[in-house]
Amino acid sequence: MEDYKKYFPIYANHKDLAYLDSAASSLKPKCVIDKIDYYYNNICVNVNRGVYSLSYEATDLYEESRRVVAKFINAKEEEIVFTRGASASLNLVANSYMDFINPGDEIITTLQEHHSSFMPWLNVCNKKGAKLVYIPLTEDGKVTIENFKKVLTKNTKVVAINQVSNVLGYTNPIKEICKLAHEVGAIVSVDGAQSVPHMKVDVKDLDCDFLSFSGHKMCGPSGVGVLYGKYNLLQKMPPVEFGGDMAQDVYEHEMTFKDAPYKFETGTPLISEVIALKDAIDFISNIGLDNIKARELELKKYALDKLKSVDGIEIYNNNLDSSLITFNIKGVHPHDAASIFDKNNVCIRAGFHCAQPITRFLDQISTIRCSFYFYNDFSDVDKFVKSVIEARDFFLSF
Ligand code: ALA
Repeated sequence: MEDYKKYFPIYANHKDLAYLDSAASSLKPKCVIDKIDYYYNNICVNVNRGVYSLSYEATDLYEESRRVVAKFINAKEEEIVFTRGASASLNLVANSYMDFINPGDEIITTLQEHHSSFMPWLNVCNKKGAKLVYIPLTEDGKVTIENFKKVLTKNTKVVAINQVSNVLGYTNPIKEICKLAHEVGAIVSVDGAQSVPHMKVDVKDLDCDFLSFSGHKMCGPSGVGVLYGKYNLLQKMPPVEFGGDMAQDVYEHEMTFKDAPYKFETGTPLISEVIALKDAIDFISNIGLDNIKARELELKKYALDKLKSVDGIEIYNNNLDSSLITFNIKGVHPHDAASIFDKNNVCIRAGFHCAQPITRFLDQISTIRCSFYFYNDFSDVDKFVKSVIEARDFFLSF
């Protein structure tokens, strides 16, 4: 396997690290860290405001990043809004689109969602007298078109759904869902936090209306996210934050706003973060999303094969859809197990992963999640499996 760890300074500072929590946040390559450094050392000023060269340079880099993001998902640059992260993007859609929701309307979602994907719509439903409707999942927790059709009605106004679940890792049939939703006049807001870093996502091909994702899960800085929206929708939607830089004309009792995407980017944005997101996208594009996906699945297969020979493990997503393995060690609380992983410098996530409904669906209060990215290798998996065995043996010895 090619050594990608050499691009990530964290490995030089933590030689023994097995980082298996990339679904929570990815590691950051040197080129991204260097770009942030470059901005603060060489530019350091605000965008869109200063009538001086440094500010023009900052604005140029900021807008260049918008173009790179747009190209990455096959969108137009005016369809890209920079936000604080996927959660902020998902909230923005719901808080703005709420104006078009009326009592009796139905919003479809799934039990698979991350809280950030469905809670904003639960809030909309509570405020507007609309109804949140769940697609029934199959026994193993999957969304099917057949079950989607059972809940899609002429009252459906919105479908809020993840492309890849952050707990089970399944890839949902977004393209078909969009087609069917559009037939009844509904829009589809896709949570792409766990898909965009790992696979080619083409918003025009999916024909989704909104797509939200974070920079920090795809080798970019934390604090920056993206909202893609179809331009006609972004234009008709009201801003949800008011103030600096998003206004056109402001009087004592009247105000008008800039066109999308700017009317949604209020105040001084995350300048260095947006600028360095370009470098993250260039970096993963150079490696290639197909290579990334193939490597992750190779690692997952290797890990699953090893785990199969370990007694006392319950795996909840025994498939090769994505790079997540969610499991429990029978009789061992995930947080207790996590202490053994931590002792061995193996970073995993234990808990309900900001997704309580799907954790309850699994009949668990929490689970352990191991998630791969392309910088992982077989030695990380070996350390991980060794820790699983150690945790089981240690806690079951009492
Ligand atoms: N949403 C992130 C996760 O699934 C933080 O871990």
